[in-house]
Amino acid sequence: MNKGKKLYEGKAKIVYEGPEKGTAIQHFKDDATAFNNQKKSTVEGKGVLNNRISEHILNNLNQIGIKTHLIRRLNMREQLIYLVNIIPVEFIVRNIATGSLTKRLGIADGTVLSKPLIEYSYKNDELGDPLIAREHILEFKWVKNIKSLNFINDTCLRINDFMQGMFRGVGIKLVDFKLEFGITTIDGKEQIILADEISPDTCRLWDVVSEKKLDKDRFRKDLGNIIQAYQEVARRLGIIHEESNISTVKFGKPKAVNIKKK
Ligand code: TMP
Ligand code: ASP
Repeated sequence: MNKGKKLYEGKAKIVYEGPEKGTAIQHFKDDATAFNNQKKSTVEGKGVLNNRISEHILNNLNQIGIKTHLIRRLNMREQLIYLVNIIPVEFIVRNIATGSLTKRLGIADGTVLSKPLIEYSYKNDELGDPLIAREHILEFKWVKNIKSLNFINDTCLRINDFMQGMFRGVGIKLVDFKLEFGITTIDGKEQIILADEISPDTCRLWDVVSEKKLDKDRFRKDLGNIIQAYQEVARRLGIIHEESNISTVKFGKPKAVNIKKK
């Protein structure tokens, strides 16, 4: 499929004009960054895995009636998507306290929250994506009204419910994750839909038994075996198989991930 001109290049993805008005092509790169771009590297094969994992999750969400920007995957690194105006807010859903929540408030790492906690960050690299309140979102019209903000909140919780179940079924705890939403017009009607990606880059995923990290914290904290962890997530979700095509051909036979079995 022919790509149009480059519309946007982020840290891990590039968005090109799509073949038809209102569509775009999202390309997954192997670049990894953390701490607002201060730490950078290339993780060979990460883009291919995130493309597949995000496709799998967004397709499942579409099936339960959550509208997403995904139209279909095109190839190893690209997806055809609806072009949206991204809402400049990162919606963070947390089930277990870790990461910036524990640093900011001194909560013990691993504390299980009594119910999912939603936090908001203003998407602005220059400002370091600062934490914001619902009032900021409404005051500065990043979301047009409280009804739309409540809709996004409810959608975050539905996505959390679905993903917690999906990951729990394959022995993974969904600790926290980040979502982005966009505005688009479908059939003449303005709609808020899920955008961006859901992958081990944007979630914290711990093995249920060993609590081994199967996500981008392996990069952030220099834990090593990043690609093996992403492959493990893809294998458990049934996206790639034990003797797999993308894992074995592209990256060599995956190393054992050393997960203790009960
Ligand atoms: P945090 O604990 O660093 O605030 O991260 C919360 C969740 O959001 C975690 O699953 C990682 C994800 N995340 C992103 O996807 N992008 C980001 O830029 C940041 C800071 C976090
Ligand atoms: N993606 C973000 C960055 O580079 C941060 C992160 O995922 O930790 O800065």
